Amino acid sequence: MATVQQLSTKHVLGIKYLSEADIRLIFETAGSFKEVINRPIKKVPSLRDVTVANLFFENSTRTRISFELAEKRLSADVVNFSASSSSVKKGETLLDTVNNILAMKVDMVVMRHPAPGAHHFLAQHIDANIINAGDGTHEHPTQALLDAFSMQEKVGDLAGKKVVIFGDILHSRVALSNIFCLNKLGAQVRVCGPPTLIPKYIGDLGVEVSHDVWDSLKWCDIANVLRIQLERQDIKYFPSLREYTQYFGLNKTLLDSLDKPIVIMHPGPINRGVEISSDVADSGHSIILQQVENGVAVRMAVLYLLAAMR
Ligand code: CP
Repeated sequence: MATVQQLSTKHVLGIKYLSEADIRLIFETAGSFKEVINRPIKKVPSLRDVTVANLFFENSTRTRISFELAEKRLSADVVNFSASSSSVKKGETLLDTVNNILAMKVDMVVMRHPAPGAHHFLAQHIDANIINAGDGTHEHPTQALLDAFSMQEKVGDLAGKKVVIFGDILHSRVALSNIFCLNKLGAQVRVCGPPTLIPKYIGDLGVEVSHDVWDSLKWCDIANVLRIQLERQDIKYFPSLREYTQYFGLNKTLLDSLDKPIVIMHPGPINRGVEISSDVADSGHSIILQQVENGVAVRMAVLYLLAAMR
């Protein structure tokens, strides 16, 4: 594939709207920024005079800190907004909140919002570049980009590589964005979890479906483990967490029984002892902290490339 010099879009609303060339350009740029953030002086002036607003209408630890660090490493001016301490609590609409922030001359908006599609709505109404930092159960594009970048760093080109996404696929924006991203990069993708936590027509996205953890572990090169999103579940999808762990949790006994090493990933936050045991999460096969490190470089790349589209 020929390398392109710029993105095909001025927003990153979802992996669905990025081309394979966009993704590869982001990875190439992230590779350069990874070198920068490992230097003694970690800062470059690329986004000097650019103001970025981080609008978080939902809780976050990793994504929020990672974006803020990425923006600061690029010398952007940064403003942070948290819904829990804002006038949203007094009944202000999303559009009014954002327009008030933009009136203060903000160039780029990074937003996490519980409503799927909130970013598409904003993109129709405001001129700033918008980056989706997670919209409900829909997409989390920068998580998928950092996941695929980390996979590629570990196992090389992803074409033909076998990736299983384990866990609560039904409520996971990480799963959907990973599926779109891995498909575009030519990986083979399988989802594995209880039937109640797997969307009925997910096979239409070109993924295999399994409910057998052992068979899926034997099949894959990479296991990306997701947590059970209890906060999004309005009914009971399985009898108990204990039973979930027994049938779908990854543990050392299972991994030691494989005749090959596999790469273990998790986007966080981890529920230790539920979907993954501590000795697996902290093992030499786990790249969970490398994912976090790569998140800063990947988000620097996304911000830098979008700023060039202004
Ligand atoms: N992986 C992820 O999105 O984590 P946070 O919810 O802490 O941002």
